Amino acid sequence: MRATEQAHQAVRRVVRTGETVVDATMGNGHDTLFLGKLVGAEGNVIGIDLQEKAVELTRHLLLENGIGDGRVQLVRGSHAELASAISGPVAAVMFNLGYLPGGDHAFTTRKETTIAALEQGWRALRGGGVITAVCYRGHPGGREEAEAISAWAAALVGAEIEIFERKEREDGPLLVTVRKSATADGLKGS
Ligand SMILES: C[S@@+](CC[C@H](N)C(=O)[O-])C[C@H]1O[C@@H](n2cnc3c(N)ncnc32)[C@H](O)[C@@H]1O
Repeated sequence: MRATEQAHQAVRRVVRTGETVVDATMGNGHDTLFLGKLVGAEGNVIGIDLQEKAVELTRHLLLENGIGDGRVQLVRGSHAELASAISGPVAAVMFNLGYLPGGDHAFTTRKETTIAALEQGWRALRGGGVITAVCYRGHPGGREEAEAISAWAAALVGAEIEIFERKEREDGPLLVTVRKSATADGLKGS
């Protein structure tokens, strides 16, 4: 199974209808659409991307799929400001890192901003909530970003961590999944 599908599976196990979730790297909008369907009309999705192009592609994909009812909030900006885009506990935060396929490589995620966003996502996560990060190690900085995320996850207290990778491909995608202990609450510190 692809890392992106595994990430969906991890999120599906945790998120309930009506909850608030975040797509921290909207890109073409596939994860935002997945989250929009998952939380339903009563739920809330906050989608973030640096590029206007990603905002437009995602808006289009949502409309094409009949999700134009306001459950998704599209934010153009850096996920390093994730905390300012949310106002309460969230059930899941998804990251699909790297750059938009076929797009401008100037908008590639960077380990410093990714770690800042993960930290804010972790603080906002409700007990039992999940963060997924699909990392790509074949482009400049990708391996270092994947290593920084694995180290960040390993240092968390009150987290269950899973790392999925295909052993036969050293530069293939790596999925880091972090689940918060069920007794912890979002927005109460790290
Ligand atoms: C691999 S793509 C995401 C694919 C997307 N999840 C999908 O389903 O199509 C990575 C995205 O991260 C975005 N990005 C890069 N740095 C960012 C940052 N600091 N904050 C938010 N988005 C960022 C890029 O613009 C790009 O659209």
